[in-house]
Amino acid sequence: MNQEVIPVKEIPGFQTRAEEFFPIDWYKEMLYNHPVYFHEKTKTWNVFKYEYVKQVLSNYEVFSSEGPRTTIFVGNNYKQDKSLSITSLTTIDPPQHKKSRSLLAAAFTPRSLKNWEPRIEQIALELIEEMQENATVDIIEALASPLPSIVISDLFGVPIQDRHQFKKWVDILFQPYDKERLDDIELQKEHAAKEYFQYLYPIVLQKRSNPTDDIISDLIRVEVEGEKFTDQEIVQATMLLLGAGVETTSHALANTFYSLLYDNDSLYGELRSNPELVPNAVEEMLRYRFQISKMHRTVKKDNTLLGTAVKKGDVVIAWMSASNMDETMFDDPFSVNIHRVNNKKHMTFGNGPHFCLGAPLARLEMKIALEVFLKKFSRIKPVDGFELEENLTSSAPGQSLTHLPMQVYK
Ligand code: HEM
Repeated sequence: MNQEVIPVKEIPGFQTRAEEFFPIDWYKEMLYNHPVYFHEKTKTWNVFKYEYVKQVLSNYEVFSSEGPRTTIFVGNNYKQDKSLSITSLTTIDPPQHKKSRSLLAAAFTPRSLKNWEPRIEQIALELIEEMQENATVDIIEALASPLPSIVISDLFGVPIQDRHQFKKWVDILFQPYDKERLDDIELQKEHAAKEYFQYLYPIVLQKRSNPTDDIISDLIRVEVEGEKFTDQEIVQATMLLLGAGVETTSHALANTFYSLLYDNDSLYGELRSNPELVPNAVEEMLRYRFQISKMHRTVKKDNTLLGTAVKKGDVVIAWMSASNMDETMFDDPFSVNIHRVNNKKHMTFGNGPHFCLGAPLARLEMKIALEVFLKKFSRIKPVDGFELEENLTSSAPGQSLTHLPMQVYK
């Protein structure tokens, strides 16, 4: 089905990139004055409060992930075979959703996570070791951008010498669309998807006869209700994981460093002296600084669960990042507090049946990256003259940092 893409950017109508990067004033305005808001031009309902966001994301009998309209523009990039159930995991409801999810979940067991920890640490160490001491480092180029794609290529079991090429494909496949270069980007993505498929398919075949300790082998082994993944489905599943897990984790890492530099300059020192605070600091960063989180659902039956009448077929957008700042849930929500006790309740990974499958991996990557970094550098400092507006993507489903230079000290 060719879905109609809703131009979500028109809803807040931000004037600058920086405003979109951290729309705290807009969230305040919407939380206090328009917690359930119908946007005329896009014909969408928009909800901001925690309890409504949770309701929309989790109550799949009323708010469906299926529907003819979407907020997510994936373009045509890798002409997926829609008959494969795995490719539609995010756009189907239970009970159909359950089997695909269980199959994919095989890749994210607690046992796998335990095994991955040293591998992720090794990758973080290699990247951080390359950073010069007492110098300026662009943390996006040096860590936030490469780490998630190298980690996932390692966890897939891609040969180490091909990591560089792998990252190139990922960068092309999931680069944001730019209105002026739409056809060009589309073409690049199609080309990269073809090369990626041709590269990975033989690796899947080889692992089928010789499974090892990696995600692709886990996906080959798993069986749910007598069903197993085909080779083609496994390649598609890796694409799904790349699409869901690389940009998002890069964004979370980038924003964490931004927060340490610009939200509160005593946090870095506090974390260095008390590294046991890192996991909670990671949760706070996900709550406070992850600003591109919003998901849509289509109303399945007329209801008033959001305090107003919505009708079958209406689209509701759940603004998760705004709900993370709802004071009925979080005390003093508009400030960073790495000691906050309930910050794990943030909605950044969603809620309900589609709750992020990769959340444990994303958390682990953020924790390890921060711990390794804190060990090496005693202090970080913003560089003079850094202009946020000039260091944000020109077009994306939310604003992401393209560069974040900072001074690092041994
Ligand atoms: C900070 C990083 C991440 C964030 C903020 C994030 C956020 C989300 C959110 C909000 C959803 C729910 C979508 C919905 O309700 O429709 C989701 C689903 C998903 N995420 Fe993540 N994600 C992150 C990292 C990852 C990683 C590392 C992976 C795997 C490598 C991953 C794999 C998935 C998958 C497979 C789904 C679909 C689950 C389903 O539909 O049942 N994510 N993610």
